[in-house]
Amino acid sequence: MYLYYRNVNLETTADELVRLVAGFQTQLVDLEFVSNELYLCLEDEGLYVYSSQFKPLNLKLFYSEFIAKRKPAIKREILIQAINLRASTDNLIYGLDTTAGLGRDAILMSLAGYRITMLENNPYLAVVLNYLCIEFAMQLPFLEVVYSDNLTYLHESSKVYNLIYLDPMFNDGKQALAKKDMQIIDLFIHQISLNHTTDNQALFELARKRCRQKLIVKRDNKQAELVSQPVPTYVKKGKTIRFDVYQCNEVSEK
Ligand SMILES: C[S@@+](CC[C@H](N)C(=O)[O-])C[C@H]1O[C@@H](n2cnc3c(N)ncnc32)[C@H](O)[C@@H]1O
Repeated sequence: MYLYYRNVNLETTADELVRLVAGFQTQLVDLEFVSNELYLCLEDEGLYVYSSQFKPLNLKLFYSEFIAKRKPAIKREILIQAINLRASTDNLIYGLDTTAGLGRDAILMSLAGYRITMLENNPYLAVVLNYLCIEFAMQLPFLEVVYSDNLTYLHESSKVYNLIYLDPMFNDGKQALAKKDMQIIDLFIHQISLNHTTDNQALFELARKRCRQKLIVKRDNKQAELVSQPVPTYVKKGKTIRFDVYQCNEVSEK
């Protein structure tokens, strides 16, 4: 696995980006370099995703536009309304996104003032998320990424979070993400041969044990709940997706 970079001055940044993924290497390439495969390339204008399936995607632009568009109305985001926990200097809210993907939901939670740890087991996406954390550290100061399988992380860590978020890959092929975003995630996922059949019941149960306040599951409106029991404490519905929220303690903060 390679992160390419086109300018010798970018070597240090490239090395920093791949540091969290063992086996990921960096390689200097010339301006004419192209490959038929899906690949990441660090350039003066930002980190690019190249694929034969779509035109080069500048992630710096992608994330800048996403943040600029969503930040002003962050309190109106359904996800933030579903979480409904107020963060302040006296009330720090720690959250775990167990299936970070491109980090868009994690960005929303971070913009709402929560301190979010993102878990991602796809090495390419982990590098992309690391880029997000480093490049946007000013706007998202308390966002971090861990390259790990979520079940392994939850088994090995004893940390407890105020909120835990699940947006898993669904076994029925329907995803709770817009098509374009999912296409990019899908391409990265198919690049790597990992076992994608996560035991969602086990993930849910383990997450519940590590959750102090709210466990939030993103679903497509047409889908059933992720687990048959317990039923969600409450549901926040959008046009096509919804958030099933499970209160993890006796104190109701609905
Ligand atoms: C539906 S996407 C999440 C999209 C994300 N909410 C966003 O805003 O971009 C699910 C993600 O979970 C990741 N994933 C799947 N199984 C995982 C596992 N066992 N541990 C960690 N991440 C996993 C996939 O690689 C994929 O990126």
